[in-house]
Amino acid sequence: MTGSSYPPAPSNRVFSGVQPTGNLTLGNYLGAIRNWVALQRDYDCLYCVVDLHALTIFQEPAELHRATRQAAAALIACGIDPDRHILFNQSLNPDHAELAWYFNCVARLGWLNRMTQFKEKAGKDRERASAGLFVYPNLMAADILAYRAGHVPVGDDQKQHLELANDIAAKFNHDWKVPDFFPEIEPLILGEATRVMSLRDGTKKMSKSDPSDMSRINLTDDADAIAQKIRKAKTDPEPLPETAEGFEGRPEARNLVTLYAALSGRTVKDALAEVGGAGFGDFKKKLADAAVAHLEPITTEMNRLLDDPAEIDRTLLAGGEKARVLSAPVIAQVREILGLVHV
Ligand code: TYM
Repeated sequence: MTGSSYPPAPSNRVFSGVQPTGNLTLGNYLGAIRNWVALQRDYDCLYCVVDLHALTIFQEPAELHRATRQAAAALIACGIDPDRHILFNQSLNPDHAELAWYFNCVARLGWLNRMTQFKEKAGKDRERASAGLFVYPNLMAADILAYRAGHVPVGDDQKQHLELANDIAAKFNHDWKVPDFFPEIEPLILGEATRVMSLRDGTKKMSKSDPSDMSRINLTDDADAIAQKIRKAKTDPEPLPETAEGFEGRPEARNLVTLYAALSGRTVKDALAEVGGAGFGDFKKKLADAAVAHLEPITTEMNRLLDDPAEIDRTLLAGGEKARVLSAPVIAQVREILGLVHV
């Protein structure tokens, strides 16, 4: 059997995912979700709340359930359209887990050993990390390739995982002599804020798992919480620089101006034309206003959606059905390629 026996991979398909652990942050929003929303205009999109990935670190069941619904509500509130596109939670489509097993047999230990996110998440005691955490990127590759999707909008931190996914796809295509079966994945790392940093430490990524809630802005934060977090954000004693070169050695200043630019739909250069030379006190007021103006409608809509959790569940279930229809033929072809007896 050769690759030419299979239909070409769809050229217009986008896949991306977010973990339901804690609350979604401004980093998730600016680095990924905002771009997911924009891509809906020109692509056929699948957006997934990756509950199986969350399990790589212990999750309280009730909390996982809550966070999954909340992530779905946040995505819809941000503008993901579950009627025209596909929104679901990962465990609704077992094809992801099946393909991930095949990829566990394709990916090399040496490749996985190089993953910086595993090193960060496993910390000093690697021996105690779950095996799932180690093969996490194989499941990520399966998420995307179960639909033979070629376009994946993510923040900067996922780049290495997508390179690994491409290595898996290429090795699969090569070893089983099915050139072009799995497409090359194009990471879409878009916008000004591809790596939003912590409000407490400009050298660390803003993350939903940071122990300090003051380090991040959550999509659930109200206007007062947002203003307070920005007021207390770490800064340095100098006024803001006039040009981006002046951010050298000033990660907090760079981060806050980048946020301001992204929230007000401008480049960092244009934002600096307005706020360069200002003191942090005045600037932080502007930033807080921009953040509240942007996030308040999202939070209000999210809370409205969360008043009817059964409706969110129905939306996810319907999305899961649509996703399975798309992945089923791909998985059938993969089984055939591998020589598994199935029909
Ligand atoms: P997760 O849940 O950590 O984050 C979801 C998306 O948000 C982006 N992001 C950020 N962007 C900018 N600045 C930040 N501080 C920031 N924090 C998070 C992430 O880059 C991501 O795009 N492994 C993935 C989920 C996943 C996935 C996939 C993604 C599972 N399968 C398949 C793409 C394709 C993750 O943990 O994302």
